[in-house]
Amino acid sequence: MTTNVFNLTGKKVVITGAAGGIGSATCHQLGGAGAAIFATDVDESGLQRLTKELEAKKIEIHTFVGNASKEDDVVRIFSEIANKFGAPDILINNAAQGIHTAPQDTTGAEWDRVMDTSLKGYFLNAREFSKLVLQAKKKAALVNIASIAGSSAIGRGNFAYSTAKGGVIQMTRELAIEWATAGIRVNAIQPCSVNTPGWRRWVETEGEKAQILMTRLLQGIPLGRVAEPEDIANAVHYLASDAAAMVTGVILPVDGGNLAFNAGGNLGHY
Ligand SMILES: NC(=O)c1ccc[n+]([C@@H]2O[C@H](COP(=O)([O-])OP(=O)(O)OC[C@H]3O[C@@H](n4cnc5c(N)ncnc54)[C@H](O)[C@@H]3O)[C@@H](O)[C@H]2O)c1
Repeated sequence: MTTNVFNLTGKKVVITGAAGGIGSATCHQLGGAGAAIFATDVDESGLQRLTKELEAKKIEIHTFVGNASKEDDVVRIFSEIANKFGAPDILINNAAQGIHTAPQDTTGAEWDRVMDTSLKGYFLNAREFSKLVLQAKKKAALVNIASIAGSSAIGRGNFAYSTAKGGVIQMTRELAIEWATAGIRVNAIQPCSVNTPGWRRWVETEGEKAQILMTRLLQGIPLGRVAEPEDIANAVHYLASDAAAMVTGVILPVDGGNLAFNAGGNLGHY
């Protein structure tokens, strides 16, 4: 009999930004593979909706309302999990926020807000997670949701967000090396545009320019479509599971070929 390396039965998964598009899809995917879900988000009603969805599938879920970038909240949530359930096995750092402001118009407060949510929050959650895992001496996996914006420039006022995502990518490599001998694998995913509520809201705010934007976006994606949240959740599942037991420090694009495609290139032979 072969072992199912994707089976997550008995694993406890903490995920930040769980009520959003990629977060929810990931909870469904990992919960469907047998994991117990520990969902955190600032959006209480979103967590309630997620709970109903997962409970309908008989997936174990525990929710924690809190801000992933606030140290007190993160410490409180991990200590509640540890006291009631013991050390978790998997952390998905997913909660992030961007802005679309030209660099010359970006205020210090806006910069701080983006860095807090999209970079510092990843560190705080990784730190609290690692303390519990190291103490329990168990193997663990951390998956950071980065972005193609972390290693290629996309303009359109993504400057602060892209800089934070670049930080997430380097944080992934550093943590992978720091914690390799302890058995904590650390990897990141770089999505292209993903069809989530947050992404759709942004496209809508572009008004008349939305169609031009979509055409331009799709021209950069060789597979010819934006990603669905499930595309990202599937990659998270792989990296979080024993299927990726020998994989650490990897930055995995899930982008339909976007990063591989040179802006001056052609799709196919012309
Ligand atoms: N959607 C895309 O096109 C896309 C592309 C590349 C990368 N990503 C990345 O994927 C991740 C998820 O994005 P999404 O599209 O699902 O977003 P989303 O807006 O659908 O969901 C984000 C969730 O995070 C929560 N959240 C935001 N700030 C928080 C905080 N400080 N503390 C706790 N919760 C917080 C929100 O309430 C929301 O539920 C993010 O890291 C994002 O940068 C998204």
